Amino acid sequence: MALKITPYETVIGARVEGLGLTAPPDLAEVHALEAALELHGVLLFRDQRASPAQQVAFTGAFGPLAPTEEADARLPDQPEIFVVGNVGDHPVIFSSPEPDGPLEWHTDHSHRKEAARASLLYALEVPPAGGDTLFACMYSAYDSLPPKRQALCDGLRLIHSASGLRDFIEEQGIAPTAAKRTTVPDPPVERPLVRRHPLTGRKALYFGSRVSVAIVGWPDNDARAFIAELTEHACQEAFQYRHSWRAGDALFWDNRRLLHAGTPYDTQGTVRLMHRTTLRETEPIR
Ligand code: OGA
Ligand code: MN
Repeated sequence: MALKITPYETVIGARVEGLGLTAPPDLAEVHALEAALELHGVLLFRDQRASPAQQVAFTGAFGPLAPTEEADARLPDQPEIFVVGNVGDHPVIFSSPEPDGPLEWHTDHSHRKEAARASLLYALEVPPAGGDTLFACMYSAYDSLPPKRQALCDGLRLIHSASGLRDFIEEQGIAPTAAKRTTVPDPPVERPLVRRHPLTGRKALYFGSRVSVAIVGWPDNDARAFIAELTEHACQEAFQYRHSWRAGDALFWDNRRLLHAGTPYDTQGTVRLMHRTTLRETEPIR
């Protein structure tokens, strides 16, 4: 079957058929998928059965990989795989245990010196309910702001820090061992709130609801209120794609353009297990 890309009706999201994770894409396929990623922001591959090595080879066709800094969450034989889920001694859980708990919207590795350009998350086992992942389009978020607000945002610089993620984990009482994963000594980084996508030239908001812990030159209270309000606007339903996972699904998303958030699931009574590969950002963020 030839490569087929079917966009969803939401502002982001498309399904890919005719190509899977078990073989690395050739150059023409890489270009076609890059173009689709640029257009749609997040791509779904269904019914996959990829080994860790195959997933690494597939993702590696798009550029250099960025293994997680959380050494305990790497797959021992395949360190480029980040094991996301509630199994083993080192659970990695991004959501509150409360069904209606708050969401932690973010873009991967924004608090690391080298951010992530794109991520590929492959579901091995999913709970019968809950554990959806939400994505929101930050072009839409920026474009829909009133011009004065856009001008304000254009000039702001935010501090991104792993401490914000640790605070979220502690506040929500997420499995205590999960908190360990944020003890990696990552110095905070400063980022522009508005970045231009290096491929499209479009402006996107670039921040996280918790990982962005401060605004340069602002009092802390004002910064917190501003980030909370901005999250409300930027991640509104109209700009979202919601993914309800099936085992065998793989999602490939653009961290330059989207924020995402995991939604709650029963971490005690069900299993959710995913493998993530992450592409390193290779362009300056500006
Ligand atoms: C991630 C992530 C959310 C989820 O893997 O980067 O944020 O729903 N996952 O597992
Ligand atoms: Mn993430």
